[in-house]
This record gives sequence, structure tokens and C-alpha cells, in this order.
Amino acid sequence: MACTAVFATLAATSTPHRLLIGKKSIKERPALRGGCRTMPSTRPSKTRGPSPCFAQHGLFYSTSTGKTEEVADLIQEAMGTAAPQDIADVDVSSLASFDGLIVGAPTWNTGADTERSGTSWDDVLGSISGLDLKGKPVAVFGLGDSIGYGEYFCDAMEELYSTFKATGAKMVGHWPADDYQHEDSKALLGDGHFCGLALDQDNEDDKTEERIEAWVAQLKNEGF
Ligand SMILES: Cc1cc2nc3c(=O)[nH]c(=O)nc-3n(C[C@H](O)[C@H](O)[C@H](O)COP(=O)(O)O)c2cc1C
Repeated sequence: MACTAVFATLAATSTPHRLLIGKKSIKERPALRGGCRTMPSTRPSKTRGPSPCFAQHGLFYSTSTGKTEEVADLIQEAMGTAAPQDIADVDVSSLASFDGLIVGAPTWNTGADTERSGTSWDDVLGSISGLDLKGKPVAVFGLGDSIGYGEYFCDAMEELYSTFKATGAKMVGHWPADDYQHEDSKALLGDGHFCGLALDQDNEDDKTEERIEAWVAQLKNEGF
């Protein structure tokens, strides 16, 4: 027993073992991956050296079955900036520290006026509405099923849109609604556009990458 205890103590304090634990913990803590995720650096860029992050943009999503997370990864690749974070893991007061935000949600709560996403956004939109995001560019994307739920396509996207708009944010990324199969959506602005990028991984996933590429190009012309 005594020998086992001594060995365990040595193993826990030896340098290689600590390094292994260190590497593992970084992998397991997404907030430590990617240079500019939740804690934007306040150091001047001259002292930071080359960085893929020209501005501190946050990318936040929620998901039930993983599709919105997959799409958030594609948006991150196209933007070349911050890696996405599940809004459930975020202190929402930190959103005010970013230069701009991209936020995305699926719709699950079919036909509902509130809590349309049915995901973590429902828990935090109230707190977000109390933030001051005046003048910050914010773009919304949403996932839905334009055939199975064609009358309610991406309804939750509008709930995010109005919440962030109420904070004084500069809402960007409106997207033409003509190339879709939906019948109706609360996310329609009335001028032939959705309030953000609508995506349908259930029926039109072949169009997703092309849509993201064009939307990201649009965002870069609109303040991102
Ligand atoms: C029970 C149920 C309800 C849904 N309600 C809607 C809806 O009202 N509007 C819509 O556009 N999509 C609706 N969907 C489709 C999901 O939003 C879509 O599959 C989405 O990609 C899921 O994203 P997630 O994997 O990130 O959760 C619904 C799907 C299910 C199974």
C-alpha cells in the first residue's frame, strides 16, 4: 500500500505527467482554443505579432442535434476569425466586449411567439436585451426545415434579430429570400429579405457552403 501511495504521488507531481494533463485540459476547454474567442486581448496589435484576428468578432450558436454547430464552424472558416462558442457556455455580459457578433439558432418550438429556438438562446435573450451594443455590427443566421416546417421556416432567427436590434446594435446580413422553398417565416423583413442568413440542412445542405461564402462576403462589406 505504502509503495503504491508513493508511486501515485510521484506520478502526480512529475513534470511529464503535468504536461500531459496540461495538454489534455487545453483540448477539453474550448475557450482556450483559438486566439480570440471570449477574452479579446487588450494588448496593442504591435506587441501581439501576426494574428488571424483583425478585429475581435464573436461567433455564437445553440443547437439540439448539432447542425447549427456544424454551420457555425463553416462560417468561422469563411470569416477566418473567432471560433464558434455555444451560447450556453458564455457569460452574456462578455458579448459587449466584441467588435461585432455573429449569432445563430435553429428553430424547434414550432409556431411559438417566444422561445422559438427551443435551445439555450431561450434562457439568455432576456439578459442580452439589457446589454448596450450600440453601433456594433451584429449578423444573425438560422437553421430550419423549409419543407417540413415551411410555414415557420427559421422563425427563431427573428427573435434573435429583434433582441439584438433592441440593444442598439447595427443589424447587418439581411439575405434575399427568393431562392428558398418555404411558405412563410417570421424572419422575413417584408422587403423580400430574411433578417439574416437562413439555412436548411434538412433539404438544401448542398447550397449551404455557397450561401455562407456569399453572406460572409456581404458581411465584410457591411462592417465586419
Ligand atoms: C420537432 C421539430 C420541430 C421543428 N420545428 C421547426 C420549425 O418550426 N421551423 C423550422 O424552420 N424548422 C423546424 N425544425 C427543423 C430544425 O430546425 C432543423 O432540423 C435544424 O437544422 C436543427 O438544428 P440543430 O441540429 O442545430 O438543432 C423542427 C424539427 C423538429 C424535429
